[in-house]
Amino acid sequence: MPILDKISLLTLLISKGLLAKYMKRITGTYQISTVAGEKAKAFIPYSLPPENPPFNFDEKLKALHLEALSTLEKLQVAANLIPNIEWFIYGFVRKEAVISSQIEGTQATLEDVLTFEATNESKVPADVEEICNYTNALEYARNELSKPKGLPICSRLLCNIHEHLMKGARGSNKQPGTIRITQNWIGGSRPGNAVFVPPPPEHLGKLLTDLEHWIHSNDNLPPLIRAGLVHVQFETIHPFLDGNGRIGRLFITLLLEHWKILSSPILYLSLSFKKHQQQYYQHLNQVRTKGDWEGWMAFFLLCVKQAGENAIDTAYRLFAIQNQSRNAVANHKSATMYAIRLFDCLANHPIITMPMAMKLLNTTKPTASKAIDGLCKAGILKEITNKKRDRVYAYHNYLSVLSEDTQIIV
Ligand SMILES: Nc1ncnc2c1ncn2[C@@H]1O[C@H](COP(=O)(O)OP(=O)(O)O)[C@@H](O)[C@H]1O
Ligand SMILES: [Mg+2]
Repeated sequence: MPILDKISLLTLLISKGLLAKYMKRITGTYQISTVAGEKAKAFIPYSLPPENPPFNFDEKLKALHLEALSTLEKLQVAANLIPNIEWFIYGFVRKEAVISSQIEGTQATLEDVLTFEATNESKVPADVEEICNYTNALEYARNELSKPKGLPICSRLLCNIHEHLMKGARGSNKQPGTIRITQNWIGGSRPGNAVFVPPPPEHLGKLLTDLEHWIHSNDNLPPLIRAGLVHVQFETIHPFLDGNGRIGRLFITLLLEHWKILSSPILYLSLSFKKHQQQYYQHLNQVRTKGDWEGWMAFFLLCVKQAGENAIDTAYRLFAIQNQSRNAVANHKSATMYAIRLFDCLANHPIITMPMAMKLLNTTKPTASKAIDGLCKAGILKEITNKKRDRVYAYHNYLSVLSEDTQIIV
């Protein structure tokens, strides 16, 4: 066959997507990078969208996409049915923060975080601080994105998120708020035996600008698919010395809201990533090693569906507990007006102390004490320290549902 015919046949096959099944897509280039005198093969990803061949949004992925979207719609309906969505945002954001940080290795539970918030201790354990930093970082970013003159989704916003996340003892040596200027690596004791060596620092500026432009461009792919692509691209760029996993997952939360897939951060997606952590890392890796964007996407969409179903179930169970508890309080003989008012604060303070109750009710110690006592007698609150002083009370039924899957498994 003359050479020209071969080329035109190839072009035809590619344009019809027929080669996509057989061709291994190349998703970037390698460059030898030197770290501490040792040479390593650093990967520089091509910018989004996937090309050669383009992202294959086939029937299988379309079906998974529809299922994931419809689960998110049901989650949104569940949230809209609830009189005070702030309860869920409060609890679910903290749940996501705890689980996302646990993927990183943080050894703190939801109870630890809520107890810290209730007691206002001056000394915060580093693990708890990391989780509080995550919720602060998310709040900061949502606030910026919702303000008329706030930052849009851009590298500056990501750096500021990083600054919030790296506050305090553990993060202070991780160049808070700064794109790294040194070579890093993932897995392995040194760059030479690493699982993955991200791009050398001189490439980061352009890679992040390209990512930002693509997010703001008019791509035909649906927003949920785009959020999945952004997560991998961000993890592959790995622009910070630490915190890339948490920021990359927080990025998904921001995009779902920004692209109006959910009206608030009520999907704790990290739960599914944590449950399938090995597959999560493997799929991230295979985008680079096999060009398998589609395999990652199938995994991502299944995770969205699974986490969404879990959140819907949790939301309805919490709502039912809240209704039962309210009836129990209203019908109990020792319930004062202050006890009922305190009860209404519990969904946002499932762990509470006397000083906190005084503050929330804006009242004296004897009155707050009576309110707490009333809620204990009605079976709503339980004292959890067994101490005589500095007592801490938990809205135990509610908390036991909210904190499912957030325990540390040793
Ligand atoms: N092979 C890989 N390729 C790209 N990203 C990866 C790979 N393996 C893990 N990751 C991502 O890197 C994250 C860890 O990076 P790190 O900067 O330590 O973030 P964090 O401190 O938030 O865990 C993981 O949570 C995951 O999202
Ligand atoms: Mg880390």
